[in-house]
Amino acid sequence: MSTYILGIESSCDDTSASVIKDDVILSNIIANQEVHHKYGGVVPELASRSHQQNIIPVIDHALKEANIDKNQLSAIAFTRGPGLLGSLLVGTSFAKSFALGLDIPLIEIDHLQAHILAHFAQKPEKRIDVPQFPFLCLTVSGGHTQIVRVDDYFKMTILGQTIDDAAGEAFDKTAKIMSLGYPGGPVIDKLAKIGDAKKFSFPFPRIPELDYSFSGLKTSVLYFLRDELKKDDDFIEKNQADIAASVQYTIIEILMKKLVMASKQTGIKQIAVAGGVSANSGLRAAIKSGEEKYGWKTFIPAFEFTTDNAAMIAISGLFKYQQGEFTDQKATPYARSNF
Ligand code: KG4
Ligand code: ZN
Repeated sequence: MSTYILGIESSCDDTSASVIKDDVILSNIIANQEVHHKYGGVVPELASRSHQQNIIPVIDHALKEANIDKNQLSAIAFTRGPGLLGSLLVGTSFAKSFALGLDIPLIEIDHLQAHILAHFAQKPEKRIDVPQFPFLCLTVSGGHTQIVRVDDYFKMTILGQTIDDAAGEAFDKTAKIMSLGYPGGPVIDKLAKIGDAKKFSFPFPRIPELDYSFSGLKTSVLYFLRDELKKDDDFIEKNQADIAASVQYTIIEILMKKLVMASKQTGIKQIAVAGGVSANSGLRAAIKSGEEKYGWKTFIPAFEFTTDNAAMIAISGLFKYQQGEFTDQKATPYARSNF
C-alpha cells in the first residue's frame, strides 16, 4: 500500500504545501509573498499574515493537483523550525488541527535537514540518482551556511558553519547596497553572467577550520562602493555587472575552499548542495567542476528544490513515517535549529 504524506512549509516568506506518494512528488505548490520586495527584506509581521491568508488555498491546491482526497493521507509533516516564529506558528497550528481532524500521525521536520533530504525526492517523469551515505552537503540559504556530514536520513553532523552572516545575506546585502531589490541572489546571478569577475577584488576571510564568515565581505563591498561613489556618482550603474560578478566570484571561492577542505579531511566524495543559494549558476558550475578536479560525485538540486518548498518537508516526513517517529499535539515551533 502506498504512503501519502502532506508536507507543509511556512518558516519564512513562502507558504508551501506538497503531496507525495511514497518518494514521488505529486504536487508542490508555493505561494511567494510579493509584499516584502518593497522593504528590501522579509518583514516578519507581514509574513505571518500572508501565511494565514495563503495556507488554506495552498493546501487545497496541493491536494487537488495530487488528485487525492484528504482522507487518503497517511500523515502530515510540517516545518517546526528554524525560522520566523510567527510564520512557523501558522503552519504548525494548521498541521496539528488537520492531523487531529483526520486522526492521522503528525510529523515535525527541521527545515535545514529538509533542504538536505530534498535530494531524495523523485519526480514522476524520471527517477534520479540519490546520494549514498555518508555524503557532505553544503547548505547555503538566506539564513544559514553550513557544511553537514550526513550519515543517515536524520544522523547529521555540522562540520562547519558561518560565525556571522549567511552566504545568502552576502548576496542580498550586496544587492541592497547596489539598489537592486530583494531577494538579491537571483539579480546578482543574472548580472554576474555578463560581468568580469576579476575586475574588482575583495578580501577573503581568515577563519579557522571549516567555519565561514561573510560579514567582512559585506563591509568591504560597502566601503569600496562608498569610496568609488565619491569619485564618480554613476560608478554603480556603469559597473553593475562587473561588481556583481566580482562579489559572486568571491562568495563562491569562499564557499568552495572550505567544502574542498571538508572533503579532503573526511575522505567523502559524494557532495551535495542545498538551500536557496544553490540556485546560483556560478556555484552550481563550481561544484560540478569538482567531479573532474577532485573525483566527486555531485548532487545539485533541480531549481524548484533550491528555495523553500514543501516537497522537501514531505519527503523528510516519509522517512520519519517509515521509522514511526511522530510528534504529539504539544509541539511548538523553534526559532533556532537543534539538530
Ligand atoms: O533557502 P531559501 O529560499 O530561504 C531561506 O531558508 O533562507 O534561501 C533564500 C536565499 C536568499 O538569500 C536569496 O538571495 C538566495 O537564497 N538566492 C540566491 C539565488 N536564488 C536565491 N543566491 C544566489 N544566486 C541565486 N540564483
Ligand atoms: Zn530554506
